[in-house]
Amino acid sequence: MKNVLVTGGAGFIGSNFVRYLLDASRESQLQVVNLDALTYAGSLENLRDLPRPERHTFIQGDICNRDLVRDLLRRHQIDTIVHFAAETHVDRSILSPEPFIQTNVIGTFTLLEAARKYWLEKKALPLEQVRFHHVSTDEVYGTLKPEDPAFSETTPYAPNSPYAASKASSDHLARSYNHTYQLPLTISNCSNNYGPRQFPEKLIPLIILNALTGKPLPVYGDGQQIRDWLFVTDHCEAIHKIITQGRSGETYNIGGNNQPANLTIVETVCDLLDELQPLAEPHRSLIKFVTDRPGHDRRYAMNISKIKRELGWQPRYSLTDGLLATVQWMLANPDWVAAIQKQREYQTWLDKNYDKR
Ligand code: NAD
Ligand code: TYD
Repeated sequence: MKNVLVTGGAGFIGSNFVRYLLDASRESQLQVVNLDALTYAGSLENLRDLPRPERHTFIQGDICNRDLVRDLLRRHQIDTIVHFAAETHVDRSILSPEPFIQTNVIGTFTLLEAARKYWLEKKALPLEQVRFHHVSTDEVYGTLKPEDPAFSETTPYAPNSPYAASKASSDHLARSYNHTYQLPLTISNCSNNYGPRQFPEKLIPLIILNALTGKPLPVYGDGQQIRDWLFVTDHCEAIHKIITQGRSGETYNIGGNNQPANLTIVETVCDLLDELQPLAEPHRSLIKFVTDRPGHDRRYAMNISKIKRELGWQPRYSLTDGLLATVQWMLANPDWVAAIQKQREYQTWLDKNYDKR
């Protein structure tokens, strides 16, 4: 791995991965090219104070732009693509699915085609030195009943939201490029991430931010839905292991080994804030049950025995340590919070999603 193209590297997980890669490359000559369209979810604030910034090149652009992607691969002699760029929020996909099809399906197709042409047709680099890694989600597997076993790599796909369906489509395309053309490729399906630099439309940063400003904490339905939570740095480490040691053609499930109910997550964040930044009333008094999400998946859980067995990866952060680190990061970075709160688009989203709930 010498010249890495990271797509979506100004978003939450992508920017954490760029940081991880630059840090991990202390001894190597690794160069990172970061392609990101800077949608509402991406921000240059996420790329402040990178380690080894001289090894990082930021390009603002769309992964659906075929000429741009082709030129980037050639100009930077890209040997590794780590593909994060996506529309990622389920609630937005319910209110407005089209950008999900465009970026997640067409964008992934555009990248796969560019890689196929550059690596396989032009034979620009030795095949054993190239890798396309496609970053995906556990949501492609659908929802679990309480007694069902956790999702494994062989669980049939049953996506329920437009977001999950668009990611499932992109997974199928990625898989087919390996099967048909032998494009060196891996896929990872990961559970819900949380941690520094997550856009506060997702549950955990939204709850922290609302709690800090004394606003209601919206819990959908009965709050008993279950997610499998993973601290973002653990996800970055898992992806790095897959790229460097994973077998081409394989899918790896990644998860956090914990499955609390949403309400428990919200209450835990409240209790942490009561200690770190007390209000007159306990933060739990801000909890407000609101209308449920249509088609809301009840339960996700990941079986991570394959990545553990084959690559020796398992999460390092417990949920308690990860939540504390996330709350502390938010408190220590008021400039980052202020920059997002200033975005008119963010306020528009909050009005659109929560006003009539
Ligand atoms: P995010 O929404 O925080 O960031 C997405 C980034 O992609 C943004 O920087 C955005 O500007 C960029 N982007 C969007 N459309 C683009 C386009 N057309 N061209 C170029 N850039 C574009 O997302 P995230 O939470 O960091 O998720 C990253 C990846 O990980 C996604 O593929 C997502 O499906 C996957 N994933 C996320 C989670 C999670 O809990 N957040 C869990 C599992 C998998
Ligand atoms: P989210 O962070 O949007 O991730 P995903 O839908 O990809 O799992 O939501 C996590 C869980 O929290 C999900 O069950 C929906 C729920 N949720 C709320 O209860 N309130 C909210 O305001 C949000 C954004 C999510």
